[in-house]
Amino acid sequence: MSIRFDKQKKRFVINTKHSTYAFEVVMDRYLYHTYYGKRTSVLPDPSYQVISFAPYLEGYDESRSPDVFPQECSFYGSGDFRPNALRLNSDGTGVCDFVYDSYRIFNGRVALDGLPAARADENTRTLEITLRDDVCGCRLKLYYTVFADVDVISRYMVIENVGKSDVKIEKCMPLMLDLNRSDFDMISLYGSHCREVNYQRAPLHHGTQSVYSKRGASSHQYNPFIALCSHNANQERGEVYGFNFVYSGSFLDEVDVDQRGHTRVLMGLGSDCFSYTLGAGERFCSPEAIMTYSSTGIGTMTHHMHDFVRAHILPPSALAPHPVVLNTWEACYFDIDEDRLVQFAKQAAQTGFDMLVMDDGWFGMRNHDRAGLGDWYENKNKFPSGLASFVSKIKAEGIQFGIWVEPEMVNPDSELYRAHPEWALRVNGREPLRSRHQLVLDMSNPDVVDYLIAQFDKTFKGIEIDYFKWDMNRHMSNVGSAAWPEDQQGEIFFRYMKGVYRLFDWFASRFPKAVIETCSGGGGRYDLGMMQQGIQIWTSDNTNPYDRTMIQASALIAYPAATMSCHVSNPHENLRSLDYRYKVAVGGMLGYELNILNMSEEVKRDIAAQIAQYKSFEHLMRAGDYYCLAAPYEYDYSAYYYATPDASELLLTVIEKAGNKKPQTKRLKLKAADPEKTYVDCQTKKQYSGAELRDGLVIDLTCDYDSAHLLHFKAL
Ligand code: GLA
Repeated sequence: MSIRFDKQKKRFVINTKHSTYAFEVVMDRYLYHTYYGKRTSVLPDPSYQVISFAPYLEGYDESRSPDVFPQECSFYGSGDFRPNALRLNSDGTGVCDFVYDSYRIFNGRVALDGLPAARADENTRTLEITLRDDVCGCRLKLYYTVFADVDVISRYMVIENVGKSDVKIEKCMPLMLDLNRSDFDMISLYGSHCREVNYQRAPLHHGTQSVYSKRGASSHQYNPFIALCSHNANQERGEVYGFNFVYSGSFLDEVDVDQRGHTRVLMGLGSDCFSYTLGAGERFCSPEAIMTYSSTGIGTMTHHMHDFVRAHILPPSALAPHPVVLNTWEACYFDIDEDRLVQFAKQAAQTGFDMLVMDDGWFGMRNHDRAGLGDWYENKNKFPSGLASFVSKIKAEGIQFGIWVEPEMVNPDSELYRAHPEWALRVNGREPLRSRHQLVLDMSNPDVVDYLIAQFDKTFKGIEIDYFKWDMNRHMSNVGSAAWPEDQQGEIFFRYMKGVYRLFDWFASRFPKAVIETCSGGGGRYDLGMMQQGIQIWTSDNTNPYDRTMIQASALIAYPAATMSCHVSNPHENLRSLDYRYKVAVGGMLGYELNILNMSEEVKRDIAAQIAQYKSFEHLMRAGDYYCLAAPYEYDYSAYYYATPDASELLLTVIEKAGNKKPQTKRLKLKAADPEKTYVDCQTKKQYSGAELRDGLVIDLTCDYDSAHLLHFKAL
């Protein structure tokens, strides 16, 4: 049983395969967090320490102050001066104080009111803790949903207003974890457009360190994923706690080290971009955040995250081979039309591609990025015989068809905006700021979502679309909605995301055979919320292979390769560069963005061979276990491999970084190889014993820029 309640001790114990999490009800009201770490049956009892200036209830002393012991959830204004998980305003003070009431343990999980959530399986169990605050008239339910096989526990909360008057949620952090130590480094992923997910690691310090987004999207600037690891942690050694948020909008991750050197981790919606008014009888359900623990280094934490994402987040369609696409963007930009793309489809089919993806530029007056967004019907100059006839011509070439959409946006120069200026987010009396010449549609307004549904339904009716690339190319400023009253404007960021998820759900049910690739100017929404909507995410608009090596290595800390869409682009018909770009791109799900009409037969033959080779090992990246040998943010080269769980196949990639001037020899230990097996290198046919591979394979990296190795081993 993954969840137990010890009645005598009033102790809740959650066990995953390798970890234990425990807390107790103390003083008949507080939830004292006692343990999260390596799986154990020996749990510590609560311990108390007197700290002055710590407020307490009558009948107790400073040692029983909520300010000094580790808790499961902390409330603003109720004596815990550390950053709080919940601030609820019923009387103007924001003070709330919930008291333990009851619990329930059940199989499976509950749905999260229109939010993405990890999929349950037959082993999933949930602990529900109910607390109450009779002064503000609310019930609080804390949920712990346990995915024991992959060592992940998720947390989310529901607030029910059972009183008679409105309450306003002013801060909401569904995940809170208190640890009674602070000797950790914090790992986070920062970046910008075209430079996503840079690895950053720094020791914790007293006070609050945070990553966040106030942009309405999880953002290129900070990914919601963070980890805390012991100072000595590396891939194979040390303790690591990993955290992530199943949500795609603004967020806040706070890590605080208090006066006693204890650490509090909070993850959630924060307060800057979030408030929510609950009328009498209403309830609010938060998004969920997840945590995992590893006692054997960062590599194991990564395995937990990868296994969790594949088994519980990605749609089942993501577990089948992903199509190798030829995307038109970097080849054509807006310069597309029916004749040109039918030629693309013919050549693409002959070269072995699975699919042609028609990117931006096919709709409304979209001849450049200053017009057309919002007008979701085909441009008649480019597609004179209509979309349906065009798509049937593409299919007649024997290739699948994908199409680009950016539903959440509108150009002021569009029919939609001229008809409905009030459908763009804006604040009364203020000029709405533009970004990429566009404004953001008010997805918090159900009329806007309904309109988009009706329009896409009309445009795509009867057309067999296999793939949508769903983009989002600006962040939100001046967030205000004409659809909601003044005192609910703080809800717009959150309601926007729920509108977006509703539209995703509609696409999924209306086009059940199609898959979705999500994108936000590359990796601007590279998060678990989006991963549940689509089979993969366009990792970055930056397709330079040197930069991609870095971006992909950092993304892999938290997200499996199955989520990472990686394209070969612009090889300038330079064969060596093409090979190097390909070896970088097969770090994830392969695709191409280049002008196939300009390509020599020789280049097309090379691409056809690459696609065929990729298909022989694609399953390793998509479903295999990932091992990082040398991360490019720590070494002057990149080396990693994938292994099938039964160690029958291994795929090793070694990439030299840009600017490396000296030849080097590396010895790479493939410890996942089975010492009892003999492996053959699929290309050279050379044989190696598993013991040899475990002991170290010697790889020479030349000093020339484009050195890359890809070795596929199969057990005999
Ligand atoms: C974004 C995407 C690109 C492409 C363009 C089209 O930048 O990341 O891949 O689709 O939009 O405008």
